[in-house]
Amino acid sequence: MAKTKVVVTRQLIDEAQQILDEKKGELEIVQWQSEKPCERSWLLENAKGATGILVMLSDKVDEKLLEAAGSQLKVIASFSVGTDHVDRDALKSRNIRLGYTPTCLTDAVADLTIMLILMAQRRGGESIAKVINGEWPQMPWHPLLMTGPQIGGSTVGFLGFGRIAQATLKRLLPFGIKKAIYLTSRPGQPAKEDHFGLVKQATIPVEPATSADQLAKESDVVIVGCALTPSTKHLVSTDFFGKMKKLAVIVNIARGPIIDTDALVKALDEEQIFGAALDVIENEPNIQANHPILKQPRCVLVPHIGSATIETREQMATESVKNLLAGLNGDAMVNEVEL
Ligand code: DGY
Repeated sequence: MAKTKVVVTRQLIDEAQQILDEKKGELEIVQWQSEKPCERSWLLENAKGATGILVMLSDKVDEKLLEAAGSQLKVIASFSVGTDHVDRDALKSRNIRLGYTPTCLTDAVADLTIMLILMAQRRGGESIAKVINGEWPQMPWHPLLMTGPQIGGSTVGFLGFGRIAQATLKRLLPFGIKKAIYLTSRPGQPAKEDHFGLVKQATIPVEPATSADQLAKESDVVIVGCALTPSTKHLVSTDFFGKMKKLAVIVNIARGPIIDTDALVKALDEEQIFGAALDVIENEPNIQANHPILKQPRCVLVPHIGSATIETREQMATESVKNLLAGLNGDAMVNEVEL
């Protein structure tokens, strides 16, 4: 009997690779070998005849790929929480299941969010750059040297209030923030899920915002944590920045295109806001050294490392493989997207 074919667009680590390799008797495993992202042409060519495909967030799953794979394709397992690289409608219309890894990366991304908030408020990037550039001797201690807004007492506005946002709120409470507001696809409505019991029981007000305008006006810290969809693309643009407080900062841990980069550069140039810290940006990873955002001293940019702890990446790999195998066998996945 012919083996079931699966395509995997990365070499995996430890346990994950082992679980996959143990299935070699029953599966034909075609795996991208390079440490660089999988080439699209390789994926299109090798998808032919696959029953399952394990993809990274850098692999586009669209009609063309599904067409190339053929009608036997049963499952896509994505090594990510975000699924904006996947055409969900195309999957649904073909009855293809979609696995993802939304739970195991929550802590890692929430931790990074805290780092970014503090970097933006306390001018971390700017301070480090000055020392590295040898400017410290010219800037001796001064009562106002490199001062920035304090996290305690801040009102924190969440654009999107899912698991990662709520885990971030949990971490922010001991810092003494004053209030949290959040905007979801149901403005003014209480969050559907209360992952850590904070929506109902936090010691500070945690309230739904009725609009992006309200959130922009009231927040000292704006955290972009929503999914990228046609309605959230450039949700944060000139208009939004125009409404933010002058001492407010913005952090993006979701997807680059939710913030209009040109508008952000302008807002920073014109000191409409205090600072920004980004884990993601439009057109990543193609950010060259002369990109205007890199000329902004009050903007910190890191290369999409939200979930990059050793433990989390191991778990993401293992869960992705489990989702792939569950999809092949018609079993329950660790986490499955409801299409
Ligand atoms: C994901 O998995 O979608 C995240 O962007 C990782 O940080």
